[in-house]
This record gives sequence, structure tokens and C-alpha cells, in this order.
Amino acid sequence: MKTSLKYRQFAWVAVLATLLGICSAAQMPGPPKAETREWLVRKDLSPDERADLLIAQMTLDEKIQLVHGAGMSGFPGGEPSLVRANGGGGFVPGIERLGLPDLNMADSSVGVGRGALKGRYSTALPSTLALASSWDKNVAHEFGALIGRELADQGYNVSLAGGVDITREPRNGRNFEYQGEDPILAGNMVAQLIMGLQAQGVIGDIKHYALNDEETGRMFANVSLDRRSMRESDLLAFEIGVKQAKPGMVMCSYNLINGTYACENDYTLNQVLKKDWGFQGWVISDWFATHSTTKAALAGLDQQQPTGNFFGEALKKAVESGEVPLTRLNDMVHRIVRTEFAIGIIDKPQPTMVPDPFHGQEVARRVEEASAVLLKNEGGQLPLNAAVVRSIAVIGSHAGVGVLSGGGSAQVDPAGGNAVPQEPFDPTDIMAFFGQEIWHRSSPYKAIREMVPGAEVTYDAGTDHAIAAAKAKAAEVAIVFVNQHTSENSDVSSLALPDRQDELVNAVVAANPHTIVVLETGGPVLMPWAAKVKAILEAWYPGIGGGDAIANLLFGKVNPSGKTAVTFPQSDADLPHPVLPGTGVTMPNPFADLNNFPSFSFVIHYNEGLKVGYRWYESEGKKPLFPFGYGLSYTKFLYAGMQADGGDTLTLSFAVQNAGTKAGEEIAEVYVTYPRAAGEPAKKLVGWEKVALAAGETKNVKIHVDPMYISVFDVQQDKWKIVPGDYTVQAGGSSVDLPLKAVVTIGK
Ligand code: BGC
Repeated sequence: MKTSLKYRQFAWVAVLATLLGICSAAQMPGPPKAETREWLVRKDLSPDERADLLIAQMTLDEKIQLVHGAGMSGFPGGEPSLVRANGGGGFVPGIERLGLPDLNMADSSVGVGRGALKGRYSTALPSTLALASSWDKNVAHEFGALIGRELADQGYNVSLAGGVDITREPRNGRNFEYQGEDPILAGNMVAQLIMGLQAQGVIGDIKHYALNDEETGRMFANVSLDRRSMRESDLLAFEIGVKQAKPGMVMCSYNLINGTYACENDYTLNQVLKKDWGFQGWVISDWFATHSTTKAALAGLDQQQPTGNFFGEALKKAVESGEVPLTRLNDMVHRIVRTEFAIGIIDKPQPTMVPDPFHGQEVARRVEEASAVLLKNEGGQLPLNAAVVRSIAVIGSHAGVGVLSGGGSAQVDPAGGNAVPQEPFDPTDIMAFFGQEIWHRSSPYKAIREMVPGAEVTYDAGTDHAIAAAKAKAAEVAIVFVNQHTSENSDVSSLALPDRQDELVNAVVAANPHTIVVLETGGPVLMPWAAKVKAILEAWYPGIGGGDAIANLLFGKVNPSGKTAVTFPQSDADLPHPVLPGTGVTMPNPFADLNNFPSFSFVIHYNEGLKVGYRWYESEGKKPLFPFGYGLSYTKFLYAGMQADGGDTLTLSFAVQNAGTKAGEEIAEVYVTYPRAAGEPAKKLVGWEKVALAAGETKNVKIHVDPMYISVFDVQQDKWKIVPGDYTVQAGGSSVDLPLKAVVTIGK
């Protein structure tokens, strides 16, 4: 078991805090007369007006009760309100006399988490990095809607999903629960996810705000990045997500940003999020990421989670003494209750029911089919022809029983149990659960066998490379599955595959030239064998429909259409930080005393600035293994006839033709290169469209670029602005394959 000491301490602190710190629920006056609860009946009023009516009736204690959590209800506790809680990551008791419901919060990045303790299971969707690789907003909406539905079915009214920290650091253990390296793609995809989720009457979240781009020392990392780069990269993903989807909550992150904790950072919370972006919801701290009372309250934090002493009695005292104005406390409460009205959790409490596993599994499979990326297909090795193939050797990565998932709070409990049993752990210790490798019961091997009932299909675990090679040699085709497990609270030190899997691939390909590799990884990995194998399919963490989806893609029942949402580098040495920042730093125990947090921090200099992901590789002249926005299909697409217009913004159109013999979907991408005066390091994605085309069909694509996407952030004027000049516009099928080109004048 990989459970670290840190996790255990975290868990103990959580239990103690739950038992000791939360028995301060206000002495409530008796129920008011019906006519005084106008906020409940005046549905014609706006959420803000209803919130105002409500707040006017609240006592100080009631207000204080709403702005801090009452513990992680997954733990046993003596407090009556916790007994009432649903078992999720967070709980804020409601106030009956005012008609305010309990807030039951669940982690749900890729499905509703932590249900097994209560005998509940939900759909394990593919990773959100997979989702981003579909580049399909409808798919993202459906992904979020499924999570929202299953949250409501399980009795949750608040989601802790919505991760969108961009892939500045490809070794980040949580990249699988984010949306890739490009802020515009990531922001648009997370926005759709949140909109789909909130449409189910569940409050959504976007996290972790901001720059929580690695897990190593996440509570101590002091991220140093200039404001312009921040606004145009990491914060832009949040800006798009917040403005488009209007999530109910923004979760501030553990790390410090330019010397100040993210949960008490006036610049990112008050100035940017609330003032500039007009965010009307509430800022919730990441779990135990609150470090002060007055400073945090004045900087814009609205709710401490999951419990702790900064926003309980201490905040009450600060309000009574005037250190924190009552107007600010009212603002915190207003943000929470106006969101409850806006999303509908007060007006339309939802009945609980058992999620429909068949529906969920089908959605999960379709998401994976839209998200897997065909990275290589030499000599048309794929699709496999079920009518003629006689023997297949399936090798490695527990493909005989299931598919891998990412760990941590995003983990969805495996329906039917872990397909690859691990050492037992204490089921009440959430943190012990984090380190576990969970395999969902969806076997690629079985799905492949079902495709070719007449053929001989063998499975070998791949642990003995000589045996695996012999099996591969005896078959017409070898399919090797390889993986890299990643999880919250740790990073990988290298993008190299662990457990001698490169050697396994080498042994298999030496025995059988028709070798196909299927990757199940949290993010990009190194592939020293890439030139040798015939085909490579990146399946990410494929979710509960993964086995079938992979087989459908390998046999061409579904034409691959995903494109990389992250760059795959050739080596760790090509990364902006060849050694993972924080490596070798001795960190104190963050959980020793949560009210006396160590003042220790270490700096991560993100001196690559704007050069994130593909912009790094282009400006540094480094050739990636597989570039951003890249992915193959079983058909071929041609681009022609670009018309581009400038003016206030960029508008363009072009034709995409399916020049092959199979129906398929193409993600047509648009990049701009700025005029020199803009000081932008490399071209930048500003738009895309996923187009479905029958064989031989041509469609015209029209793209109107949001002016913000071609703007730069002017730090002096503190606003987005378009730099007038000539812009080179390119369109095509990947960041490095852009056959259409035009120059337009914008902003003049
Ligand atoms: C994670 C959050 C999560 C929370 C509750 C934290 O450790 O960073 O993403 O929502 O725990 O489980």
C-alpha cells in the first residue's frame, strides 16, 4: 500500500477536527410564521433579491454557520448535523427555520466519488484530460450532465468537480482531472462540463484557483509568475470557465501565488475573480487551505472547508470587533444563498434514486470513443479487420480484467470491486484510499475477443517478458497495453513508463512486427519504442466503458477522432523544468497543527511564462514526440479555400473535405501568430470546430473568434487589449500541420 504518513495524519486531523471543532451550530429560534419567509415564496424575485430578504432575517450565528464546513462527513462524528450528512467530502448544515437545505458536497471530477462506504456506486467516466482530447463541447456537456444527475440521485446538491489547472507541468499527478495545456480549449471544455452539471440543479465548482500545477509540496509551493503570463495562461482557463458557465463556487488552491496563499490572495480573488470577471458565487477553500481569519475574509475567501477554526468563532469575534465589517460577512452569505436560489436547490429539492448504470456506462463508452487519440498507424495497421484476423496476443496492464483510473479525490469507487485487488486499507481513512490503484471492471481483452469470435485471442500479464514475447510471436497481431498510474498528492518524477514497461514493448515488438500499443495514462508519457511499433492508441484513463470503446476503435467500429490536449515530449529534458520543481526539498508536516501552519515555503519559478505546452516547444525549437492538437483517423481530411477577415476581431471560413472512404470526424483548428509588437512567443490556438463528414463529403466551417482570445493582457491598464497589426492565421489538423494560411489586419 502506497499510503504516505502525510495522508494518515491528514485523516486523523480531519477526524479530530470533526469531533471537536464543529459543535457550535447556533441556538436556533423557533420557526417563523409563514409570511415572514418571503424569500421562499417570492420566486418572481431575482436570486439576489431573495438573498437580501433572507439575510435581513439571519442572526450573526446563523451567518457564521454558513461560511464554514462542519467536517468531512465520510468520517464518523458525534455531531447531529454530521449524522445527517450524506458521506461526501464536505458538509454545511442548513438552517431549518429559514428553509435553507444542508449543503452536501461530493468530489465528482469524473463521476461521484466515495460512495462505496454507503453502498452506492456511480458511473466512472474517462478522465477529464481524455474529455478535453475530444475537443467536443457537446460531449463535455453530456459528461457534466451525467455527473450532475448522479450527484442528485445520490442526495448531493453541490459538486466539487470542475478541475482546470492547465498542464504547465506534465508530471503533475492531477493532470488527468484537468483539461490539458491550452487555456482556451480547457476553459471552453470545463465551462460545458459545469453547465451540463448545473442544469441538473446541482451547484457546480471550478478548481483549483490558481496555479496549482503540481502536487509536490502543494501546500508550500510559492508559485512565481508574472501577471501578464498568469492572465493569458492559467487564469484565462478560469476566466472562460467562470464567465461562460457561472459556476456556483470557485475553489481556491493550496499553494501561494507570488508570495500569498491562494485562499487569501486579494489580487486573484477580489480584484480578478470578483471585480474583473464579475463572479457572483462563493469562494470555497480547498480542504485545509485556509490560513487566516481577517486576511482571508478581506481578500475574498467566502467559506472555509472542510472545517477548522478560522471562520467559526474567530470570524464571529472579528466581525464583532469590526475588524471584518459586517457588510463583508453579509457578502459571503449573500454569495452562498443567492447561488442556492439561482441553481434551484432551495426551490427544487431532488428526490434520491439509484443511478442507472446502463445509461451511465453507455455515456462513458461514447465519451471514450470521442476522446482516445490514434497517435500512430503505420501501413494502415489499424483498423484490425475482424473478418480476416486469425490470432491476437493481448498483453499487459491487467487488460484481462479492467482499465486503470486516476487516484485521489477524483477516484470513483469501482463498481463490483477493484478488478485488480490491492492490499486492504482502512475504509474510513479517505487518504489511505488515495494511494490505491483502482481498475474498473471493463476488460479490453474480453471486448477484443467478442469482436473476433472465430479467432484465437490470448492474454498474457506481461510480467515475464520472454513469455510475453513468445505469445506475441505465435500470433498475427500483438496488442500491448501499458500504463502510468497518477494520483492526487504526488507527481511522477519522470514521464517514462514505470515497471519496465518500455522493455516489455521492446520485447514484444522484437517478436512481432505487427505490434499495437494501447496507453492508459494520466497524461503524456515517453515512448522510446515509438518508431518501432506499428500503431499507438492513447486511451487515457478510459472509464467504465473503456474496454468496449478500445475494441470499437481498434476494429474500426468507431473511427478515432480525438486529438492531443497536451504535447507529448521526446524526453524529460525537453520540459521547461527538466527536474520537477520541489524535488529534494525537505518539507514540514502540513497537518501537525492546522491552526498553526508552518510558515515554510519554496519557490517555483515559472519563468517559461507564456510558453506553456506547445508554445514552449515552438519557441524553443524543440520537436515533440507528438504535438498538441494531433490525432489520426481512419480516413483523410483535406483543407481548402480559407477566407479570413480582420477588423475588430478575426472571422474566418474554410472547407474541410473527407477525402477517404470512411465516415469520420475532424477537429479543424485555427491558430494565430501575433504581430511582433504584441510580444507573444509563438502561435496560439484561438478556435476550432469538430466536423462530422461522410466519406467524400465537404463542409464549410465558419469561426468567429472571441476578441479576448486574440487579445493580450495589458498589465499597466489592467485589461485585455487587441494589439493593432497584421496577424497570420493558420488552419488545419494539428498545431504543426496547418495547410491554410492568410494574413489579416486586426484592430486598425
Ligand atoms: C482536493 C480537492 C477536493 C478536496 C475534498 C482536496 O484535497 O485538493 O480537489 O475537492 O480535497 O476531497
